[in-house]
Amino acid sequence: MKDEISTNKIVWTKKDLLALEYLSKEEIDLILYTAASFKEVTTRQIKKVPALRGKTVVNLFYEPSTRTRTSFELAAKRLSADVINIATDSSSVTKGETLIDTGRNIEALKIDIIVVRHNCSGAPNILAQAVKSSVVNAGDGWHEHPTQALLDMFTLKEKFGRIEGLNVSIIGDIAHSRVARSNIWGLTKLGAKVTVCAPPLLIPEGIEKMGVNVTDDVDEALKDADAINVLRMQFERDEIVAFPSKIEYFRQYGITKERLAKCKKAEEIVVMHPGPINRGIEISSEVADGAHSVILEQVTNGIAVRMAVLYLVAHAKEIRK
Ligand code: CP
Repeated sequence: MKDEISTNKIVWTKKDLLALEYLSKEEIDLILYTAASFKEVTTRQIKKVPALRGKTVVNLFYEPSTRTRTSFELAAKRLSADVINIATDSSSVTKGETLIDTGRNIEALKIDIIVVRHNCSGAPNILAQAVKSSVVNAGDGWHEHPTQALLDMFTLKEKFGRIEGLNVSIIGDIAHSRVARSNIWGLTKLGAKVTVCAPPLLIPEGIEKMGVNVTDDVDEALKDADAINVLRMQFERDEIVAFPSKIEYFRQYGITKERLAKCKKAEEIVVMHPGPINRGIEISSEVADGAHSVILEQVTNGIAVRMAVLYLVAHAKEIRK
């Protein structure tokens, strides 16, 4: 990995990581730089450092998760922290306990960091104001999924050695995607040229004000792309009637080998997807499992990126004490 930020002298001072919207370019660079050194740790025979020994991390997930929850747990364990996982469907949340009460009760158990996923946009911000512990957003509603975007950017840096100047197209359900929003904030701050592509009803009004190009033509989005980030079509959401059927969506927007072959950078284009994949809907299996796909590398990089985030927020807390 090329090191573009070795002269970075900034110190992380934020208690929480809630959204990339509120981070500076330098803070994002610092997370990616810190993640690069933790990635080296994850390749050792003994994949563990004592950086968070004596600290406790709580994963508080109000929504299902495979990748995010597991990699936060691994990240915390590789930093030698203790980890507690709370699945809210088997907790006192089912008896009506509020988010703030849940957070304060967890904090009373003398924990240090709460990693929260919630179906309500803004829930991590509410929790962060109510507790002294650090809060890390693991995805909130349609708002942001900052660590997903950070691991996407980390993966791009590994592949290209830079983010600045890259053409990155985000293709799929932009309107309902916290991954899209975090990627747009992060990539534009780091100087990438971002294009978003979706059926017209899935493009949020005014999104061009975030500094992105907008198209509903997938071939246009692919034409100059160095990398694409393919989003899951969330057909399980009742409110989505933006496309008549999965078959028609795949025909018009699905990423296939034939479509990729038509882009200018067909030889080196990088294909990302945050997962879970709907094979044969937004992406063909041939592409998802093909030579251009870095989908599983993204998952692997999630550990180092989340180690960096946990380390930085815990360290910031130490500075404040
Ligand atoms: N990318 C992502 O957030 O996946 P999970 O829902 O499995 O955590």
